[in-house]
Amino acid sequence: MEIKIENLNHSYDDKLILDNINIELKDKNAVALIGPSGAGKSTLLRLLSKIENQDSGQIFIDKEDISLKNSEEYYKEVGFVFQAHTLFPHLNVLKNITLILEKVHNVSKVDAKKIAFNLLKKFDLHEHASKLPNQLSGGQSQRVSIVRSLSINPRLLFLDEPTSALDPVLTQEVLNTILKLKDEHMKFIIVTHEILFAKKAADYIIFMDQGKIVEHGDVSILDNPQTNQLKQFLSNVFVW
Ligand SMILES: Nc1ncnc2c1ncn2[C@@H]1O[C@H](COP(=O)(O)OP(=O)(O)OP(=O)(O)O)[C@@H](O)[C@H]1O
Ligand SMILES: [Mg+2]
Repeated sequence: MEIKIENLNHSYDDKLILDNINIELKDKNAVALIGPSGAGKSTLLRLLSKIENQDSGQIFIDKEDISLKNSEEYYKEVGFVFQAHTLFPHLNVLKNITLILEKVHNVSKVDAKKIAFNLLKKFDLHEHASKLPNQLSGGQSQRVSIVRSLSINPRLLFLDEPTSALDPVLTQEVLNTILKLKDEHMKFIIVTHEILFAKKAADYIIFMDQGKIVEHGDVSILDNPQTNQLKQFLSNVFVW
């Protein structure tokens, strides 16, 4: 995937949250956004996914200026996974997946069921197909969210701290699922606090602090940080 961000600015309540972001990436499939709390990672992800529109500046994904794109059309092409509890609570696992396929993508009932079952099977979740979300573990629920986002065959997936609500064991479960996406060359941008995972799963790292991209490069920047901010961040992350 190719991403080009030019002079991107975004404020909330007159407070500058993204401060003139510029970056250009080519041939990267798995990008990890890291940085301290409040750095602006989720904000950047929301702009990239068009959940919000930027105040100024431009974002090109695969040469396409996404601000010129109709949001509804864009949402049909990309997938999202957020922290937790994003499944429809009153629908079982299977319906959670087929509903969007049927209603938004006009897939027939029979085909939607087929797609959902195949994906659930692939991610070893098929035995839970008829359960309601509150009958799943946190890890299973997040894996179903990932499966749901994949069901529309997105060209790009956005994940915002998909494991932050999980205990370490469930976190591993979900991270393994995301590693599988990498093996299958799924393109994704993930905000994560799991630095060791980022090292394994990402082919590019973007480190943000206070609304700016402070350092970026391949995963080697995590072993050999150049800026004091990244050094500091990494030493804080590994304190425990
Ligand atoms: N909708 C909003 N309205 C007002 N301020 C916001 C809004 N969303 C984010 N902010 C502010 O923007 C700043 C960046 O927030 P953001 O959520 O992008 O950070 P983050 O890097 O994702 O942090 P975390 O690691 O804690 O999730 C924070 O100071 C936050 O309070
Ligand atoms: Mg965030």
